[in-house]
Amino acid sequence: MKFEDYLNVANYIKEKIDFKPKVAIVLGSGLGGFVEKVKVEFELDYKDIPNFPISTVSGHKGRFVFGYIGKEKVVIMQGRVHFYEGYSMEQVTMPIRVMKLLGAEILLLTNASGGINRYFKAGDLMIIQDHISSFIKNPLIGKNIDEFGERFPDMSEVYRKSLIKKIEESGKRLNINLKKGVYVQLSGPSYETPSEIKMLSLLGADAVGMSTVCEAIIGNYCGFKVCGISCVTNMASGVSKNTLNHKEVEENAKLAGKKFSDLIYDFIENLE
Ligand code: HPA
Repeated sequence: MKFEDYLNVANYIKEKIDFKPKVAIVLGSGLGGFVEKVKVEFELDYKDIPNFPISTVSGHKGRFVFGYIGKEKVVIMQGRVHFYEGYSMEQVTMPIRVMKLLGAEILLLTNASGGINRYFKAGDLMIIQDHISSFIKNPLIGKNIDEFGERFPDMSEVYRKSLIKKIEESGKRLNINLKKGVYVQLSGPSYETPSEIKMLSLLGADAVGMSTVCEAIIGNYCGFKVCGISCVTNMASGVSKNTLNHKEVEENAKLAGKKFSDLIYDFIENLE
């Protein structure tokens, strides 16, 4: 895609909705219920936006929600598309560039993940401190679009320390015990084998999933202040004896939903 293609998508949205968000939020599997807490101004289904990628996974909604959290203007992606659906990395991360063009400055990425760290348990929330992208195709491969960012972006602080501190403060205020760790993205859609989880553990990963890292790379590149929260919906393959299935992942995300929603609401309400 060229810069003009992204501009066209952003302008299409702007024509429908006159609203400049400060914070962009991507809601992961089973975490879409957060929208109920938001004072909604507009909604826009992805399917109504020309050239916008649409999710093919059951339970993954697909719409933008524009509204307020306290005084803060937000745009929320209720559902995202994944690389394993057959979309290119460019398509998967296109919405991040579009939200940048809509004027958003802070990017909060969320997801459901499998817990690798043995001190975690299903239902925990983990602040993403850093990520490992080495198992996915880098979404910046291709001709650089200088209007968005530079060819070789620095990655030394993708997840802003200042935002991590604010999420921790929210956790303290709400008495929510928060974990902190490294998230690794694999392509999926198959879950991992126990041997793969052992490898990821040795490499320093605390949680594993199929999203977020590619979005964080694009977000960091195009100048967002990025942060992320992962909902550990299950212990990863071989860490627990249970087998894994998507339904259980979604159900566990919903169980942690209230805690998750309270946390991100408080975080955004207290940003300034
Ligand atoms: N592995 C990969 N992705 C996931 C998992 C998992 O165990 N749980 C939720 N998303």
